[in-house]
Amino acid sequence: KVVAVIMVGGPTKGTRFRPLSFNTPKPLIPLAGQPMIHHPISACKKISNLAQIFLIGFYEEKEFALYVSSISNELKIPVRYLKEDKPHGSAGALYYFRDKIMEEKPSHVFLLNCDVCCSFPLQDILDAQRRYGGIGTMLVIKVSAEAASQFGELIADPDTKELLHYTEKPETFVTLSYKFPVSLTWFWTLLKLIDVSLLVQVSDLINCGVYVFTSDIFKAIEGVYNQMRETSSNYNHFQYATRSAPADFVRLDQDILSPLAGKKQLYTYENKDFWEQIKTPGKSLKCSDLYLSQFRETSPHLLASGDGTNKKPMIVGDVYIHPSVKLHPTAKIGPNVSISANVRVGPGVRLINCIILDDVEIKDNAVVINSIIGWKSSIGRWSRVQASGDDNERLGITILGEAVTVEDEVAVIGSIVLQNKTLNASVQDDIIL
Ligand code: GDD
Repeated sequence: KVVAVIMVGGPTKGTRFRPLSFNTPKPLIPLAGQPMIHHPISACKKISNLAQIFLIGFYEEKEFALYVSSISNELKIPVRYLKEDKPHGSAGALYYFRDKIMEEKPSHVFLLNCDVCCSFPLQDILDAQRRYGGIGTMLVIKVSAEAASQFGELIADPDTKELLHYTEKPETFVTLSYKFPVSLTWFWTLLKLIDVSLLVQVSDLINCGVYVFTSDIFKAIEGVYNQMRETSSNYNHFQYATRSAPADFVRLDQDILSPLAGKKQLYTYENKDFWEQIKTPGKSLKCSDLYLSQFRETSPHLLASGDGTNKKPMIVGDVYIHPSVKLHPTAKIGPNVSISANVRVGPGVRLINCIILDDVEIKDNAVVINSIIGWKSSIGRWSRVQASGDDNERLGITILGEAVTVEDEVAVIGSIVLQNKTLNASVQDDIIL
């Protein structure tokens, strides 16, 4: 048997998602028409012998209650929300609920960050872990040298795939493009001895936030707790004395992965498919797009079609439309559009690269491009809601919070509008509080 744990964090973590995260926990914000967390959960469902899925966070239980019961019924697999009384860190939270997680004596525990978008090749990671041995295997991916230092950056042995060195979000980056005359293991042992590794990082491989562990992970976390207790009386110990976190807070990356690297305990599995981190609304548009294109393979029935005839609107590229949506046949929709429940789309409306949340009304001839439209909002006739540029990754996208009204013939460009606002004049590159 195996179990899966998804770390959902808590309200303080979702600030970059405002105004969308004001009333809805970030993990429940829809991407490709399904809550963000639905994508890793449905990937877990494909693991053989999966007994349970746990969501661990410090949101109120009631915020997840409805979702947890409906997804358990839908997937016919128990999904439980476990609430921490306060944040314990990604490893601390796992340890805090160790008895519940190990109740059914699983041989392996998957651990997934909720805010990554990925095809989640979980069975492949588990098979790799069984081949490698050790206490865990992590999913890694190659990114550009410039991007790598925003993530957990690592060195893996090209043959054995062992994790040799790990640094969380290093500040400095140096590219080494030549081959070393000595083996990488020796090179890193040497660097560790002279402590240069803390300053210099030399890889384009990063941690994807998706892992599988044996039950020994709990011993490793316990070891860190014990060491922290010892070092609180011995302030000279470098590694733990410099942590700024509270005493019962253990981070998986800095406190577990870094010290275990190079000890034949942790291994890597390289992801060749898509991967993105979902820290901003701009990224969620991109991730929605990635999941919609994945639907072409995994769930083509979820993708809309139509060529503007037979009372159906013209659909361009990958589009998700909830069955309850009322669409005028003269609207044109796509690519990369997801429309949630009970939305009404009027005649002549054009939607491109956007997420439209539940109960929105988009009136005649309005245009929405590169934007996210919050629940119950309304967009007036001939209005335009769009980003200030074409590149939705570089900020500039428009986000309307819940119940925003854009009156007729108003342009909202590159702006963030908080909930319950009414816009009767055009705005650009603004934040409407
Ligand atoms: N339950 C709970 N309790 N969840 C937590 C806590 C906590 O105290 N702290 C963080 N999380 C959750 C977050 O919601 C997120 O899903 C995951 O744990 C990791 O969050 P962070 O520890 O803030 O790390 P990060 O997202 O900035 O970076 C991590 O993920 C990257 C991949 O997306 C690191 O592991 C990086 O190395 C990695 O590249």
